[in-house]
Amino acid sequence: MLRSHTCGELRNEHVGQKVTLSGWVQRVRDKGGLVWIDLRDRYGITQLVGEEGVTGADVLESMKNLGREYVIQVEGEVTERFSKNDKLATGDIEIKIAALTVLNGAKVPPFKIEDETDGGEDLRMKYRYLDLRRNPIRENLVLRHRLAKETRNYLDAQSFIEVETPVLIKSTPEGARDFLVPSRMNPGEFYALPQSPQTFKQLLMVSGFDRYYQIVKCFRDEDLRADRQPEFTQIDCELAFVTREDILNLFEGLMKHLLKEVKGVEVDNFPRMDYQDAMKYYGNDKPDIRFDMKLTDLNDVAQNKGFNVFDSAEIVLGICAEGCAEYTRKQIDQLTDWVKRPQIGAKGMVYVKCNPDGSFKSSVDKFYSQDDLKAWAEKCNAKPGDLILVLSGELNHTRKAMSELRLEMGERLGLRDKNTFKPLWVVNFPLLEWDEDTKRFHAMHHPFTSPVPEDLDKLETDPGSVNANAYDMVINGVEIGGGSIRIHDKEIQSRMFDALGFTKEEAQAQFGFLMEAFEFGAPPHGGIAFGFDRICSLFGGSDSIRDYIAFSKNTSGRDVMIDSPSPTNDEQLKELGIALRK
Ligand code: AMO
Repeated sequence: MLRSHTCGELRNEHVGQKVTLSGWVQRVRDKGGLVWIDLRDRYGITQLVGEEGVTGADVLESMKNLGREYVIQVEGEVTERFSKNDKLATGDIEIKIAALTVLNGAKVPPFKIEDETDGGEDLRMKYRYLDLRRNPIRENLVLRHRLAKETRNYLDAQSFIEVETPVLIKSTPEGARDFLVPSRMNPGEFYALPQSPQTFKQLLMVSGFDRYYQIVKCFRDEDLRADRQPEFTQIDCELAFVTREDILNLFEGLMKHLLKEVKGVEVDNFPRMDYQDAMKYYGNDKPDIRFDMKLTDLNDVAQNKGFNVFDSAEIVLGICAEGCAEYTRKQIDQLTDWVKRPQIGAKGMVYVKCNPDGSFKSSVDKFYSQDDLKAWAEKCNAKPGDLILVLSGELNHTRKAMSELRLEMGERLGLRDKNTFKPLWVVNFPLLEWDEDTKRFHAMHHPFTSPVPEDLDKLETDPGSVNANAYDMVINGVEIGGGSIRIHDKEIQSRMFDALGFTKEEAQAQFGFLMEAFEFGAPPHGGIAFGFDRICSLFGGSDSIRDYIAFSKNTSGRDVMIDSPSPTNDEQLKELGIALRK
């Protein structure tokens, strides 16, 4: 071994020992007669020291000539430090160097490899292997590793077995576009990369594997955001002979286990919220319940008082920002501009200040009396000192905008503490969603999700009103996972494809294998998949999953380090049977 210890290991108790360390030079401080080096490896930093008259002249000279990020090996004795550094785990000691070997030189790195770096995002992505040397990024990957390990521990103890499913498959309809891979041996034909192992895990249930999981890469060609990558990882699970209740309990258990083992946090049983309530009170299907500030329907108290904007609106929604009545004109104007940004898309915002003396001051005083505004305040549970913010317009649009405003106010009021974890289950999603563009229904989860039994009769007569036996796990406003009880009956699956507008031929061509499998004794089954990258970023306290992926893509879906995607040559295209570019 090129080392006897790591750079994070040595303490006072090692004083007097002869050791060998290897690592990267983080910093050299040359004070003439004394030279210090900070030597870094995965485990920490250890200070090395050379002293004129004590250290050999050639060694001291080599120390002075070292550049940042040189890879070196040193031998020396552990000594107690004169001035200790309590910020370093090894800060009580240093190594008096006796011998130094340069194992490899290094170009000057393009940014500082320290906790606080001077490198911008793009530069750090291009030299990701250098970025990964930095503590904060490395710790993110260590966290990821621990979460994967604890996930396996938990699922293993529950009799799950990990089965790998193929990556070159046929399209799975999870709602995004597929990445296609041309087949050289079958010219003109393509594999698709899996958006999830959905159909395979269901086939494994038919095979009798009854508890399957896989920590697995999935691929979706969709617009990227902070919490979306084109290739991401799921903790994918499926079980046979279970009810929805069994699944919710088992995976609530998984999340509790992870929170306890990895974060040391114990949480209560997860509340359950109907999809319709989530939309009504939080404006979206992944409510952040770390704080209250529910959306309040003000239609009956705000309409028909002569204010045309509200009278013509489908919905008037208010939220109560506690203690914000003292907001200045400037602060309110700034919030109004914020909601009018295209990303939020509100036309304007009305406010009501609930003054400490019990009176009200609003931006629509012309139309509303003090009694009217009192009625608004009562509906919103607003007290003197609070500020009511109101948006209006078309239902879905206004809910969405209000949900954003609620989150923004939560942020401004410090109600979204990253170390507080508030999980819940959102249940009873609609099975189908009407798409105005294509004038047909889409599966809200995927086409294999079972309707709740009591709504089955409505699949043909009133498809939009059918509820799905589906559930999402949401933590702090992030959709962490989602799943459902599946259809395991060929007839119902076929009715579902009908409802989705598939012709019999299309359904057969795409999913004939699954429907056929259902004829060979398919057990009742259901499952869930978690966004593993999202769990990592949630546990790590960051909004971006990229920080938790060793080599991620940028927002244009590019890997700037290896420069991919990239053009290919005509020869390769020809071989794949793909038309040559002009
Ligand atoms: P779903 O499509 O809801 O369900 O995906 C499951 C979870 O995966 C995460 N996720 C993503 N994470 C990062 N980048 C993405 N592009 C991305 N897309 C999804 C989310 C999401 O909750 N087969 C079903 C599961 C099932 O029914 O068992 C499925 O894939 O956290």
